[in-house]
Amino acid sequence: MLHDPKRVYVFDTTLRDGEQVPGCQLSTSEKIEIARELEALGVDIIEAGFPVSSPGDFQSVVEISKAVRNPTVCALTRANKGDIDAAVESLKYARHPRIHTGIGSSDMHIKHKFNSTREEILERAVEAVKYAKKSVEDIEFYAEDAGRADIHYLAQMVEAVIAAGATVVNIPDTNGYCLPNQYGDKIKFLKESVKNIDNAIISVHCHNDLGLATANSIAGLQAGARQIEGTINGIGERAGNTSIEEVVMILKTHQQQIDLFTNINTKNIYEISRMVSTQMRMPVQPNKAIVGGNAFAHSSGIHQDGFLKNRENYEIIKPEDVGFPSASIVLTARSGRHALKFHLERLGIKPDKAELDEAYKNFLTLADSKLNITDADLLSLVDSDKFVS
Ligand code: KIV
Ligand code: ZN
Repeated sequence: MLHDPKRVYVFDTTLRDGEQVPGCQLSTSEKIEIARELEALGVDIIEAGFPVSSPGDFQSVVEISKAVRNPTVCALTRANKGDIDAAVESLKYARHPRIHTGIGSSDMHIKHKFNSTREEILERAVEAVKYAKKSVEDIEFYAEDAGRADIHYLAQMVEAVIAAGATVVNIPDTNGYCLPNQYGDKIKFLKESVKNIDNAIISVHCHNDLGLATANSIAGLQAGARQIEGTINGIGERAGNTSIEEVVMILKTHQQQIDLFTNINTKNIYEISRMVSTQMRMPVQPNKAIVGGNAFAHSSGIHQDGFLKNRENYEIIKPEDVGFPSASIVLTARSGRHALKFHLERLGIKPDKAELDEAYKNFLTLADSKLNITDADLLSLVDSDKFVS
């Protein structure tokens, strides 16, 4: 298949890596609802579950395969036949099925998780890809803990699994260990030294243990990866996964410099963020980039004044571009006259200078004693009868 060299594929794992968060388990019908919303968002791949892990996960992959048409539906496995058989069976209704199989690639995992050797693990990796390839054409291989793996061994593994039929090679920073330049260099090394690398897409899968998941994913894309894996709102084990909405909006905002694009309908971002938060009972922190409640709220007087003169003074993304209801000017004791005037005018009140000065004086007293200034409070600051026609 020919790929546009500038196109970045978006692989959503909210329903697999995201759902591993304790307390976030979803029913099959909730998962179907999210999968449909992910399809509307325009993600390219939905990782629907880990079929061998439970009958519920298996069934969810079956039902999601039936429910969506455009995205590839992916099922996770370990590198063994039983897992792969379950995944193949669960994907039988998928229009575009993908198996995501893999094994640890760092010496840490090889010795202390598998009690094995590099040679044996390499053999198991190749066997798993070959076995999965007998049933499904699209095979993604993950080299777990690649962030800490020896780069030469990782390159050997990547080359071997591509030769065995992998169409996508996932280089996970499973423990969120890498610095952006380290992660970017890893991808660059693979791109430059693995001789069959152009037969596969490199995928970035970063965890957020040091708060670097998004930065690492961007570094990986800049170094040549063309698939990014993440979750809505960045949910996931421990400190979470890369936030899809952050990567998508970085690529859009810096289109000139980075020169890559996704097919995401960014106007759907806010809606799916709310849906995932509600269904998974995971509140979004107010200061979360792109989708947090305060992401487009301006509260200090200096910012409000600048924003009201020209919103681009304090806004690099238009809230409507991500479907956010609207930017808000929050009235607090640090707000200035401009912000008060803006809200009074919103209520149809056009005070002259003296009236605004008087209202502002009363407003500061009120704002010092009250957290939320309501429209009724605003009306009480002025002689509203005078303004009602
Ligand atoms: O973080 C990780 O390494 C994973 C793999 C299973 C892809 O989630
Ligand atoms: Zn992961």
